[in-house]
Amino acid sequence: MELIRDKVVIVTGAAAGIGAGVARLFAENGAHVFLVDLDGVPVKEIAATLRAQGSSAFGFEADARSRDAMAKVVEDAISRFGRIDVLINNAGVYPRQPFLEMTEEQWDTMQDINLKSVFHCTKLVLPHMVQRRAGAIVNISSVTFFTGLKHLTHYIASKAAIIGFTRALAREVGEHNVRVNCITPGAIETEGERKLIPSKEEADKAMELQSLKRRITPLDLARVCLFLSTELSDAMTGQTLNVDGGWIMY
Ligand SMILES: NC(=O)c1ccc[n+]([C@@H]2O[C@H](COP(=O)([O-])OP(=O)(O)OC[C@H]3O[C@@H](n4cnc5c(N)ncnc54)[C@H](O)[C@@H]3O)[C@@H](O)[C@H]2O)c1
Repeated sequence: MELIRDKVVIVTGAAAGIGAGVARLFAENGAHVFLVDLDGVPVKEIAATLRAQGSSAFGFEADARSRDAMAKVVEDAISRFGRIDVLINNAGVYPRQPFLEMTEEQWDTMQDINLKSVFHCTKLVLPHMVQRRAGAIVNISSVTFFTGLKHLTHYIASKAAIIGFTRALAREVGEHNVRVNCITPGAIETEGERKLIPSKEEADKAMELQSLKRRITPLDLARVCLFLSTELSDAMTGQTLNVDGGWIMY
């Protein structure tokens, strides 16, 4: 898609699942993609494969929770291209834990990975967008904000905060022509989801709740990320788009 061509894009959590799907779709459509993941080997391999196919992609082993690690990625993008057009705040984990057995450490770790990462990455990227009066930020929340799901209080609290953050920041930076939107994915076929729902029967049961009777894939999510990252959605900010095969309707 021409609208994303030559845009400079940072994707966190890009070694697997949704993040890898987003990075691939954007790179294949001509963006310069900075793939960031804790898992350094696969993220660099994905970037190398994309480069071998003629795309522009750079892989970084970095923890999205770490201001210093993310600052290096942002510096690299700025030194190569002088700008950052798009930030996809995707890195996240979702291990189940009953609330009664949850420790303070488990709670804090969840908020750090899923929420503080969004704080650091956005803080580092936003000044460059404000300065150029252009930019799009897409935050990945979860449909579980609407549905609730047992044993995920720490996770859903972090994902609810991302929706609030999206709305508040959109109000704040709209005057600088920077847009901030959010996606709530449903049950997406990824490595992470397979850990949460290992049995095919359970995954099929979740699919039965959808209107569309097929599994929703990282590519489905990536297409909506692409829409929210380009001029196609130029009049949208502060919004939450549900991509779940027609499960929750609101
Ligand atoms: N798959 C789903 O069904 C689903 C549903 C709703 C929301 N989500 C959200 O989508 C996002 C991606 O989920 P997924 O299913 O693709 O997961 P995944 O586990 O398949 O991939 C996540 C990637 O993020 C990386 N990561 C984790 N913590 C990181 C950190 N601190 N810094 C950098 N990278 C880190 C992991 O190494 C992994 O490569 C998450 O935020 C998740 O909460 C997923």
